Amino acid sequence: MRQTIVAGNWKMNASKESVNTLVLGILSGMADVESKVIVCAPFPYLSQAEALVTHSQLHVGAQNLNISASGAFTGEVSAGMIKDFGVGYVIVGHSERRSLYGETDAIVAEKVQIALDNGLTPLFCIGELLEERESGNTEIVVSRQINAVIDLVGIEAFKNIIVAYEPVWAIGTGVTATPQQAQDTHAFIRSLLAVHDSDIAQSTPILYGGSMNPENAEELIGCEDIDGGLIGGASLKADDFLRICKAG
Ligand code: PGA
Repeated sequence: MRQTIVAGNWKMNASKESVNTLVLGILSGMADVESKVIVCAPFPYLSQAEALVTHSQLHVGAQNLNISASGAFTGEVSAGMIKDFGVGYVIVGHSERRSLYGETDAIVAEKVQIALDNGLTPLFCIGELLEERESGNTEIVVSRQINAVIDLVGIEAFKNIIVAYEPVWAIGTGVTATPQQAQDTHAFIRSLLAVHDSDIAQSTPILYGGSMNPENAEELIGCEDIDGGLIGGASLKADDFLRICKAG
């Protein structure tokens, strides 16, 4: 049995006050949550979030990392720095990083490797564009994205990787993939892992992301191969986020 995982991706939305309110709000409703819950904060708030979750079952993640350990990379943050704050998770290869900051499959694969090398669990994101789905190329795209990582880090590394399938056309749009569309793609992703190792394919968590909300979470997470969610907009309100956490 795979444990349900619900991760909040706050993106570039936070203030000292909102982080306090949001984290304390989530903590106050965690008693009957069985899912593993992670909140991914912007870099300046990692330390604040980490301090707030001490001794709780809430985990903190970052949203990106640089592949270098240190040096002349103005404005960048390394995996070692993230780890230094006691943070255990990092989103890698989010579609916004791929489309706005030019992250290729090769760069994303390298980031997954650097995260793993530093003891961070990557939330490794994949997903097709609208035109790729409409032209029937979803499977080709997710295969390319997954295989770039398998080729670099090997299938064994998936024991420490969380995959997030996020169809780009569903992110922030209010248009969610139907449970059937999501389930079909999740099953396909699992089959790609099974080519290399069927046990690892069965144990790897594959989260769905893209306009998941309290109304649709239960049906999506109820699908056989959907092991939780990566939540953007609905992770910014404690009540909505908790309802999704309880859907698992
Ligand atoms: P959304 O974002 O839930 O706002 O669609 C999901 C994500 O980008 O991870």
